[in-house]
Amino acid sequence: MNSRVVVVGSSNTDLVVRTARLPAPGETVTGREFAVHAGGKGANQAVAAARAGAKVTFVASISRDEFGDAAVARFEKAGIDTRWIVRDSAKPSGVALIFTDRQGENMIGVALGSNEDLEASHVAAAAAAIREAGCVVAQLEVPLAAVREAALLASGFGVPMLLNPAPATRLDPELLACLALLTPNRGELAMLTGRPTRHRSDIPEAARLLRQKGVGHVIATCGAEGVCWCSDFGARWFAAPRVEAVDTVGAGDCFSGALAAALARGDSMSEAIRFAATAAAICVTRNGAQPSMPRRREILGRLEPAC
Ligand code: RIB
Repeated sequence: MNSRVVVVGSSNTDLVVRTARLPAPGETVTGREFAVHAGGKGANQAVAAARAGAKVTFVASISRDEFGDAAVARFEKAGIDTRWIVRDSAKPSGVALIFTDRQGENMIGVALGSNEDLEASHVAAAAAAIREAGCVVAQLEVPLAAVREAALLASGFGVPMLLNPAPATRLDPELLACLALLTPNRGELAMLTGRPTRHRSDIPEAARLLRQKGVGHVIATCGAEGVCWCSDFGARWFAAPRVEAVDTVGAGDCFSGALAAALARGDSMSEAIRFAATAAAICVTRNGAQPSMPRRREILGRLEPAC
């Protein structure tokens, strides 16, 4: 098993305001704290996978501005292979405006900027890295053509492709058929299938529709309710470790990155899900997306015994 994870995706700088509650449309809510954190779903997943023990290659489009330069320097410091990060976009690098409240809930608006300029050809240029990977990971903050190219290459090489379908959008059958793993949250699962997902029993039903279209494993992340793994063997729930959440930004990214790292290392699916759920539970106890991603040793130290 090759423990390298290739992540294809976005990088943002998160501008975060902490308020007592989230504002409603047209409303001003004041808060005291402001913070700038490294974010972006792709970059968060790349950092999560690297801290969880994988060798990581990141394929992205990040322009040469102050935020973009700082992001690339951070990836290099983290030991992430940045050779396939394209730096020639004329747009500013991605920025996310985020509100978080006292319950750990959040609202996010993203100016995609240079993330929008990631092309299929940029992904194709990294084909040799994809062929050698133990897992390829993508999300939906970059153009669908780039994600599709990654999925076609990965499935052509027999490398498992994990798509975290966030932010959710309709996915075509050709793309779905290339996916070994899909990691939606409840809302994304509802959006992808047009089915309700409010009750526990709704999750396997909705997942079945995606599996009928060729997705190998649907692993639905349901926050404090845990994770539902739907496969040929039916649906199996994994409890979420109990923690006091202070900030859930990046928790789904942490789950997908840690899951990919564990699978690329050769863990079984149930071991990998327990590892990733523990990583995500640690992540929500700290502020910020990338700063909250736990290291492998910390995750292993908090793993609860399997029941
Ligand atoms: O998933 C969390 C991420 O979504 C944030 O870091 C923000 O940048 C947005 O991309």
